[in-house]
Amino acid sequence: MTHIPAHTLNDGTSLPALGLGTWPMDDAEAERAVAEALGLGYRLIDTATNYRNETGVGLGVSASGVPREEIVLTTKLPGRHHGYEETLASFEQSRARLGVDYVDLYLIHWPLPKVDRYLDSWKAMIKLREDGLVRSIGVSNFTAAHIERLEKETGVLPSVNQIELHPLFPQAELRAFHEEKGIRTESWSPLGRGSDVLDDPAVAAVAEAHGVTPGQAVLRWHTQLGAVPIPKSADPGRQRQNLDVFGFELDAEQLRAIAGGDHRRLGGDPEEHEEF
Ligand SMILES: NC(=O)c1ccc[n+]([C@@H]2O[C@H](COP(=O)([O-])OP(=O)(O)OC[C@H]3O[C@@H](n4cnc5c(N)ncnc54)[C@H](OP(=O)(O)O)[C@@H]3O)[C@@H](O)[C@H]2O)c1
Repeated sequence: MTHIPAHTLNDGTSLPALGLGTWPMDDAEAERAVAEALGLGYRLIDTATNYRNETGVGLGVSASGVPREEIVLTTKLPGRHHGYEETLASFEQSRARLGVDYVDLYLIHWPLPKVDRYLDSWKAMIKLREDGLVRSIGVSNFTAAHIERLEKETGVLPSVNQIELHPLFPQAELRAFHEEKGIRTESWSPLGRGSDVLDDPAVAAVAEAHGVTPGQAVLRWHTQLGAVPIPKSADPGRQRQNLDVFGFELDAEQLRAIAGGDHRRLGGDPEEHEEF
């Protein structure tokens, strides 16, 4: 079984250096894929209320037989539940669907700055952590300005910001901000889901030099940046491959080559995107 290195977060908890994404799996697929991934050695699982598969993810966790305390289970607060009381209630629903006593990492899925209630949600997340129902609290798709506001108003920084990050959108500026603040970056769509990232000749050349697949070269790039990729795969062969990225090292030129092309977002702009 592959052993995965881990990072210590700014709250003292531990976060595996790579995890499994579960969107867009349904409950049945998530149950199977999560159990298989845990059997292969994955210890970080990413879901969200809006993926509508928390029930399946929870069943996969129990079916795996892996001790609960070894698993870092992440879920996310949806936009329609922003607000203090709404966040507490939404969390309870997530916890019930997952069938767990506590959640390891709870994230605000999108900031929805036009709705402007993420600060109230953040205060509720702090309360959930104080009550021991959540081990670590974080955000997703937040800009530096959103995070600075959380810090100014509550004095509490997120442990994690999960953002769109892949070779087409390397996010150097936001990563530098995270580093300065001690926030761990997680990469969503790390393989550039549905784009041509894995067909890029520059990625292929790096992969060939190390005798690995393009997916492995890209995931290694993330981990060497210090970011935690959460590739989604429902296929056990690709799950295994995606986990096996800690036995080789890219040099500085190869790191540059991987993200050397045009840069553009594949997903929504956090200032505009409204996901309820
Ligand atoms: N916070 C957010 O707003 C947000 C937004 C988007 C996603 N996410 C999270 O991030 C996770 C990952 O992002 P994503 O699913 O968008 O994209 P991704 O992980 O970059 O790509 C997933 C796609 O790549 C395929 N794939 C996986 N491993 C591969 C490999 N080694 N070689 C070739 N193809 C491979 C998968 O198919 P198979 O299943 O067939 O292998 C799937 O179609 C999501 O599942 C979700 O948990 C979060």
